[in-house]
Amino acid sequence: MSSTAPESEIKPTRREAVMSALGAIVGFIGAALAAPLLVFLFGPAVRGTTIGGLLGRSIPPTPRPREPWTRVGDLGGLQQGEPTITTVQMPVQEGWIQSTVPVAVYVLRTGADSVTIFDVHCTHMGCPVTWNHAAGRFLCPCHGGVFNSDGRVLSGPPPRPLDRYAVRVDGGAVYMGALQLPGT
Ligand code: FES
Repeated sequence: MSSTAPESEIKPTRREAVMSALGAIVGFIGAALAAPLLVFLFGPAVRGTTIGGLLGRSIPPTPRPREPWTRVGDLGGLQQGEPTITTVQMPVQEGWIQSTVPVAVYVLRTGADSVTIFDVHCTHMGCPVTWNHAAGRFLCPCHGGVFNSDGRVLSGPPPRPLDRYAVRVDGGAVYMGALQLPGT
């Protein structure tokens, strides 16, 4: 006695084949319609965690006037007159997504209670400047821009001093605020 099902039970009927094809078409159309919605919902998160995360150090930060104060470190840990490079995790909000991006800055203690925080990007074309201890200058490797320890242009093509962030010193801690661009 054979247990094999009759061929009519195995082969899909024409009606079943048509229904399967229709199901596939409806599924494809649904996916096509859902794609823009998914990009809208999750695009900011993707940008914040991949592109922003990967390139956060190399793209000049966008001024974000309402961003909260972010702790940079202790005042006591800063050597007066010697800029120190550090990375600060700055909070960002894109739509309803909140995340942080690493922002490289130079922190300079200028007095007992005063601190200056410079953006690392040259004001000519955005290359990161480096502090040269021996020369006592910020040097830009791209086109020879030179800035003094106060961020003022000494030579080269940069059109203005290094940009600065707002700074608050509170209880021995240093906090960084928004980027202060010219005219803001
Ligand atoms: Fe710095 Fe051109 S980018 S001098």
